[in-house]
Amino acid sequence: MILAVTLNPAVDITYRVSHLERGRSHRVEFVRERLGGKGINVARVLRALGREVLVTGLGALDLDIPHALTPVAGGLRRTVTIVSTEDGSATGLNEPGPVVTAAEWGRFLARYRELASRAAVVVLSGSVPPGVPADAYCQLIRATTASTILDSSGAPFLAGLPARPDVVKPNADELVSATGSPAPERAAGALRAAGAGAVVASLGSAGLLAVTDAGTWRVAPPEALRGNPTGAGDACVAAIAAGLADGLGWPELLREAVAVSAAAVVAPVAGEIDLSTYEELRAHADR
Ligand SMILES: Nc1ncnc2c1ncn2[C@@H]1O[C@H](COP(=O)(O)OP(=O)(O)OP(=O)(O)O)[C@@H](O)[C@H]1O
Ligand SMILES: [Mg+2]
Repeated sequence: MILAVTLNPAVDITYRVSHLERGRSHRVEFVRERLGGKGINVARVLRALGREVLVTGLGALDLDIPHALTPVAGGLRRTVTIVSTEDGSATGLNEPGPVVTAAEWGRFLARYRELASRAAVVVLSGSVPPGVPADAYCQLIRATTASTILDSSGAPFLAGLPARPDVVKPNADELVSATGSPAPERAAGALRAAGAGAVVASLGSAGLLAVTDAGTWRVAPPEALRGNPTGAGDACVAAIAAGLADGLGWPELLREAVAVSAAAVVAPVAGEIDLSTYEELRAHADR
């Protein structure tokens, strides 16, 4: 089983307006609501790949995938994306999340230990809600004997590194903000020096740069695909988790991750993949 941790799930709300203007009220043309959170996207992609997966985290959600969540009194946060049809821009408003109490965190940690002991791979994704200890990811990784993948940003990400996650998956912006270095290979080296085992950096349509104990690889999709890149990184993390669970070598694991994440760009919604694109790209990689 692959365990996907989402400490800060959300209801993702998308509003579509024809033209967004500050200080004006707008008629909403279309509303979509969906349960989100990066770990939930990872779990959805793993399900699409036929994997056994369990979602854990903080909050009470009505999820259509297997889950074992610890409820918190503060309720569920919302993230709002306002898409303007005129210029295709997307404006985000992300609530921080409920304030989690020390007792709630303690209950989650006890539950987590039990679930992680049954997992082949644990994926830790996204932001953390207020009230959760600053070193939350450090505590969770230290409590895990299975392989761990950390995909987060800012202070919670940096605080997780001393616990030695097996893989971290920063994107280009996260590499720079975590290390101050605009050179991906140098930034990856800095993250490894801070405790990360392997760094799999995702560089948008340029694909992946992996810096590992076994060597350094770059793998790119055959071409940049058009679509919705939000969630492509989560799909990439799902593929890395599946590859670690299967014991794949890095070159093969990275080819899989490039194919799965490109297939996520083609699918319109984060957490979904286009299976025919995935199969096509895998066949392409074999040639
Ligand atoms: N336009 C594209 N065409 C093909 N593949 C893409 C494209 N954009 C992204 N990818 C693939 O998806 C991977 C992850 O994308 P990206 O680096 O944008 O992740 P991210 O910023 O972490 O995304 P998110 O956090 O929204 O899930 C890339 O390394 C690449 O393999
Ligand atoms: Mg990401």
